Amino acid sequence: MLFDPRPKTRREDLFGRDKELDLLHNNVDSPIIVVTGIRRIGKTSVLNVFLNEVSIPSVVLDLRELKTNFGFRDLYNVIAKGFSSRLDKFIDLLKSISAVKIVGAEVEFRWRGRNAINLSTLFDYMNRRRIIIAFDEAQRLRGPRSQEILNAIAHAYDYDKNITFIFTGSEAGLLYSFLGLENPQSPLYGRYMYMLTLERFPRDLSIEFLKKGFREAGVNISIDVVESAVDAFDGIPGWLTFFGNEYVRGLRDLDKTKRMAIEVALEELRNIARERGKRYALALKGMAEGADSWGKLKRYIEEKEGGVVSTSILYNIVKNLEDLSIIKDYRFLDPVYREAAKMLA
Ligand SMILES: Nc1ncnc2c1ncn2[C@@H]1O[C@H](COP(=O)(O)OP(=O)(O)OP(=O)(O)O)[C@@H](O)[C@H]1O
Ligand SMILES: [Mg+2]
Repeated sequence: MLFDPRPKTRREDLFGRDKELDLLHNNVDSPIIVVTGIRRIGKTSVLNVFLNEVSIPSVVLDLRELKTNFGFRDLYNVIAKGFSSRLDKFIDLLKSISAVKIVGAEVEFRWRGRNAINLSTLFDYMNRRRIIIAFDEAQRLRGPRSQEILNAIAHAYDYDKNITFIFTGSEAGLLYSFLGLENPQSPLYGRYMYMLTLERFPRDLSIEFLKKGFREAGVNISIDVVESAVDAFDGIPGWLTFFGNEYVRGLRDLDKTKRMAIEVALEELRNIARERGKRYALALKGMAEGADSWGKLKRYIEEKEGGVVSTSILYNIVKNLEDLSIIKDYRFLDPVYREAAKMLA
């Protein structure tokens, strides 16, 4: 079903990504593949479909569960969870590792104390067979453990030729800075990686997607409503799917669906402001209201605050919002977030 709100796993449910899937198939032998794209663009779906199609056994580590200052216990829990869900494929391999315990259908790693395993060793074990290890939302690996993680990945890059790593990330700037492609201090500096960016659908394809989804669901809808939905949600598959699913289930009020989407985006923006400070809210609101240059944004914030904002502070705010893939060149990447930002207090 095209309008199923969960990440897709089969190509027939994934609309308009044949080219991207082909590119992944053609590059499956790269040691590292990086897939970026803004939120709801379909990274997890493309990853799932690809891994389902390829004959190489794979494991997906969902790093969204990782908290900000995670420790190795948390990281190994995520890895264990990933392998637990693919036990059928990896049971022999896992059983051969003394630091791994399998209790029922659950994998556990001994990650500290005597005979503990570390990441490099784990990768060396995995390298006994061809394997794809995918890190979904890999920018979450940033933090106090990042150096050790990067060292292990660099080690695997050099020695474990049977492993392909896939990193996906919605916050592209954060992901690139974690990987340190341009940072000579990073263990991965200068290494080759295959990069794939998922773009939004062009307008005609968005319309085609909605039409096809409604046809599949057996629901009639006027082309005017379809076009208005595409005006509101642009070509972002996650929002289009959200709209389609709600409509099919009986919510025939586009304004209401828009408000629901904006509410979701608003909550995310509020979280950013809560974590990073009120000025972020102000900057977001300013850009949403049209402050689309350095000078305009600076004036907007200074007027609202009644004081001077230093260049370095404003620079950081803009840079961080770009790294989070919320804005680029003072413009929102997603129109729903722009509408949400107007509502920030
Ligand atoms: N090409 C597509 N065809 C059909 N549905 C899609 C497509 N791409 C994404 N979707 C739908 O859009 C929503 C978001 O997709 P998905 O979770 O794969 O995106 P994502 O980029 O991983 O999002 P997030 O940034 O939130 O992790 C899901 O409901 C998914 O089913
Ligand atoms: Mg995802």
